[in-house]
Amino acid sequence: MTFEPTLDFARQLDAQDPLRDFRQHFLIPPAPDGQECLYFCGNSLGLQPRTARAAAERQFENWQNLAVEGHFKGETPWMYFHQRLQDATARIVGAKPVEVVVMNNLTTNLHLLLVSFYQPTATRYKVLMEAGAFPSDQYALETQVRMRGLNPDDAIVELTPRPGEYTLRTEDIMARIEELGDSLCTVIMGGINYYTGQVYDMAAITRAGHAVGATVGFDLAHAAGNIPLHLHDWDVDFACWCSYKYLNSGPGGVSGVFVHERFADQPELLRLAGWWGYDDKERFKMKKGFRPMRGAAGWQLSNGAVLTMAVHEAALAEHEAAGGMPALRQKSELLTGYLEFLINRLGLTKQQLEIITPADPAQRGCQLSLLIHHNGRDLFEHLMAVGVIGDWREPNVIRLAPVPLYNTFEDVYRVGEVLAEWAARQ
Ligand SMILES: Cc1ncc(COP(=O)(O)O)c(C=O)c1O
Repeated sequence: MTFEPTLDFARQLDAQDPLRDFRQHFLIPPAPDGQECLYFCGNSLGLQPRTARAAAERQFENWQNLAVEGHFKGETPWMYFHQRLQDATARIVGAKPVEVVVMNNLTTNLHLLLVSFYQPTATRYKVLMEAGAFPSDQYALETQVRMRGLNPDDAIVELTPRPGEYTLRTEDIMARIEELGDSLCTVIMGGINYYTGQVYDMAAITRAGHAVGATVGFDLAHAAGNIPLHLHDWDVDFACWCSYKYLNSGPGGVSGVFVHERFADQPELLRLAGWWGYDDKERFKMKKGFRPMRGAAGWQLSNGAVLTMAVHEAALAEHEAAGGMPALRQKSELLTGYLEFLINRLGLTKQQLEIITPADPAQRGCQLSLLIHHNGRDLFEHLMAVGVIGDWREPNVIRLAPVPLYNTFEDVYRVGEVLAEWAARQ
């Protein structure tokens, strides 16, 4: 599409947008002037669906009216609540329902999966991850490695971009995997890097990891609900993600887990167990000896967080109603492309502002990461002061993410205007 830098053009795109009505399904916070803010932070915390509160309230009512019997009675018995999320979750990540479960929070799930899928031996014990992965992932890996009696400096191998580059080249990732060969136990990377917004080639990384006998998993915090995923077909071993970013399920919302179907019937696979992972037909017989449920459900520990799962169910319904990832992705590429177009025409040098997210739409999702070498924090404060909500990532990046469910082309145009005023002062 040929973009134009005018309000009329942006409004024309909004008028043609098949998802235009979905913005009304979300609550948009006010800007300092009392008008709706320009919310570009769905990569950090997605907006609240209007249906979320009522969904939680229905469970408060069940708790009020049914109390303990709510586990088995009412329209949505709590004992099986997680199953209500299974089909939509599977569609979002390209999985079979048996391969997914919703439980806990993201870092907890990452640890649980690493217990099963990072099983080092004396010779095969290395973990490959991207340098500058989200800190929680770094800490998870560091402590997992220590728990196995290994030294993180030796066991963790980090992938860094080439000098002068910000993102990783797939061929360099492949080469590193091959080089590590028999010593590589597990590859664990973000599906999308939180800082640069780069999408990694998950299919290629999985193939390469498997070719040397390693397990391969992804932290999909920035990918789930943002880009199309095909975890089953890509043959990924394990993955986990949060629901509060592009899945709009509220702060601290429940996390999703994927375990490939080939592990579904391996009860002997090492794991940390709890009663909710126990065969649900026998669970209340309270027997000795752990017998896991089939598939990802066998990794559950505790009874489900129904209040947050109820919100998640309401939010997933919005994604489904919008047509799921294919429809969202179509709009997303245009929205982010329009933002990129408006930034590129500011006429700034790379020393002033540089988009470090790949220009190739196939290698990015909603987010653009703007590297501002000097006084970036001033620009960020200015954006916030005029009602543009993005986020700041140390040491010098502003992340802006137009989200297809609720952002408009006019939002993008208006952010472009704010940036143009700032650029004129540089
Ligand atoms: C890529 C990534 N991994 C892990 C986390 C940590 O998530 P949680 O606090 O839900 O464990 C985040 C949080 O934003 C994240 O962006």
